[in-house]
Amino acid sequence: MKTRITKLFGIEHPIILSGMSWISVPRLVAAVSNAGGLGILATGVMTADETRAAIKEIRSLTKKPFAANITLYFPGAERNAQVLIDEKVPVINYALGKGDWLAKKVHAYGGKVVATVTTHKHALAAERDGADALIVTGYEAAGHGGAITSLVLIPSIAEAVKIPIIAAGGIADGRGLAAALALGADGVSMGSRFMNTIESPVHENMKKLSIAKTIYDTVYTPKIDGLPARFMKSKKVLKVMSRPLNLITAAFNSREIAKSLGYPWIKIALAILLQGYGRAKKMATMANGFKAFRVGTMDGDNAHGVLPLGQVTGLIHDTPKVADLVKRLVKEAREAQKDLNAKMK
Ligand SMILES: Cc1cc2nc3c(=O)[nH]c(=O)nc-3n(C[C@H](O)[C@H](O)[C@H](O)COP(=O)(O)O)c2cc1C
Repeated sequence: MKTRITKLFGIEHPIILSGMSWISVPRLVAAVSNAGGLGILATGVMTADETRAAIKEIRSLTKKPFAANITLYFPGAERNAQVLIDEKVPVINYALGKGDWLAKKVHAYGGKVVATVTTHKHALAAERDGADALIVTGYEAAGHGGAITSLVLIPSIAEAVKIPIIAAGGIADGRGLAAALALGADGVSMGSRFMNTIESPVHENMKKLSIAKTIYDTVYTPKIDGLPARFMKSKKVLKVMSRPLNLITAAFNSREIAKSLGYPWIKIALAILLQGYGRAKKMATMANGFKAFRVGTMDGDNAHGVLPLGQVTGLIHDTPKVADLVKRLVKEAREAQKDLNAKMK
């Protein structure tokens, strides 16, 4: 398959591993890149030193292009961005912030920049700011998808911008890949599907649950981490959704996060408070959400933790090796193309 995305990144298949905190780690990133796609390292919960070490590890596992993500909204993002620039990471994916400065620095060493967006406003702004491509995330997605379904969002944003777009949200097989290309995307990015692979470090409980759950077993809510996002439906998630924000728990959780990111907590707390009550409340919710993500993804504890999960969980029935999955996606997409040709004669 040859699309504007395979050309832009120098990869074989237009298939991308989404940046998922604690999950898109060097082993999984390298497995996707080695299989001919593009792995994105998630740096949101890493210190600058951990990010540098992770890039070194990826380079020891693959000679193929790879990417790393930066969530500009999070504390510590600039420090990690600087590491990615110093290390000349081939592709940098950013979200939730303005990326003009990043694009300039990355283009200076010949790298590419991809912005993750969920609306036209942000898609057009990212294009103006110099992004080379967009990841456009629909309502079906795990985590922070937009309010509009991929079926409508992808063609609509494809019409509005000139740069290539990568569809995210609702894709788990080759039919989804072929459909995304038909809708005007030049590639796909998958989270839930790659989360359930042999190389994924997510806890085995969550791999089993993602097979057992159906398309009806997720919820979309801003109550878990402060921004509208999709999670596996569980007693814990429904409890958090029904209760007001617990500020005391948030204070403890944000201390834990600040410590793991190597930041003085008081400095982060003061900086956030200075930005006003709205931002402080969002960050407090995010602190609670992040603690719950870690417990869900790494400890596999569904009673105390939460798991971002897309509606495609209902299309996931196995735990394959990444290389086999990528081959299967390409084969299925070609079969879908043949079926379509036959139907549309
Ligand atoms: C377990 C899990 C963890 C995720 N963590 C993050 C994250 O830390 N940051 C982020 O921007 N997106 C995160 N996502 C969302 C993905 O990046 C991606 O947008 C989404 O999975 C695409 O939808 P899909 O699941 O239907 O493929 C996560 C997704 C999953 C399944």
